[in-house]
Amino acid sequence: MRALVTGGAGFIGSHLVQRLLREGHAVRVLDDLSTGKRDNVPEGAELVVGDIRNAAMVDEVAGGCEVIFHEAAVVSVPASIEDPQRSHDVNIQGTLNVLLAARRQKVRRVVFASSAAIYGEEPTLPKGELSITAPISPYGIEKLAGEHYVLSWPRLYGVEGVSLRYFNVFGPRQDPRSPYSGVISVFADRAMTGREVSIYGDGEQSRDFVFVEDVVSANLLAATVPGASGRAFNIARGERTSLNALLGTIAKIVGREISAKHEPAREGDIRHSLADITRARSELGYAPSVSVEAGLRRLIEHLGERH
Ligand code: NAD
Ligand code: UD1
Repeated sequence: MRALVTGGAGFIGSHLVQRLLREGHAVRVLDDLSTGKRDNVPEGAELVVGDIRNAAMVDEVAGGCEVIFHEAAVVSVPASIEDPQRSHDVNIQGTLNVLLAARRQKVRRVVFASSAAIYGEEPTLPKGELSITAPISPYGIEKLAGEHYVLSWPRLYGVEGVSLRYFNVFGPRQDPRSPYSGVISVFADRAMTGREVSIYGDGEQSRDFVFVEDVVSANLLAATVPGASGRAFNIARGERTSLNALLGTIAKIVGREISAKHEPAREGDIRHSLADITRARSELGYAPSVSVEAGLRRLIEHLGERH
């Protein structure tokens, strides 16, 4: 098939592009390189540098594609709190542009990168797909709106839509250098270079971390399993790890103590996050295969080769 991957120069998108190419598909990437990098786009993919806020551009690149994997977004919770107008424009209007293009260009299916952030602060765990959605950040609100758009497209316009609610994804190529970077990429990078890490709050907050390869597998299933259209799925491991435990494991792998300073808890932060992945297992055939520790070892090995 021919696939369009928006955000394909980013962390998750570039791994997805790599797998699609390996499986013999033709891949086009639309990315404005705001957080993604040209170097992340594997050879063999067609890179179009452009913005999903530009509806005409999205329409043009969607032409001839059977599936769109929509990964492009302002991905950071704090960035959405600092500038909610920008994240709204990218995450909601940009998603609508993708869906309008899919309709006009007769794309078969859109697979949307949603987020655990849509569940918000409501404390019941684990989160199943029928749990209350109560986002507490512009980012979470935008992902929830995007997901509703995607899941309404099959009924309204006959374009299949699947929403994948990623929990905390980690792995090689996640950029550790921005103040908003995913916590594992920051901790692993600092541990490798012997620098201190900052823990926002007491470090007992927890997340359901999932290795990027498992997320890629979920995307391929979401693009192909016939009954998946109109459905949302949690994509995680179904286990939670506290930041303190995470630091302990990283220290064990790198073989040295990591010094940590505590800073005030981050605004808009969720305390605990844990997924029930029963639906993805039974309906998609999703089976996460990389443990947090195995994924950390692979990430640290990758960073070791780069340093
Ligand atoms: P990333 O920042 O590495 O990737 C996002 C990509 O989108 C980047 O390449 C960026 O340049 C591109 N982009 C941003 N704005 C754009 C625009 N206006 N037009 C075109 N391209 C644009 O982040 P990621 O972690 O790979 O995230 C991929 C997707 O997964 C996002 O939708 C994100 O919200 C979602 N997600 C990520 C996680 C996670 O833990 N990393 C968890 C839940 C959901
Ligand atoms: C992450 C994703 C978001 C996704 C969500 C789904 C990133 C950048 N964000 O948000 O796109 O929708 O998961 O669950 O990938 N922390 C520290 N020190 C640091 C960095 C972070 O203590 O140096 C703490 C944070 O305060 C937070 C936890 O680590 O409590 C996780 O933070 P982060 O990795 O940014 O992820 P989320 O906010 O959960």
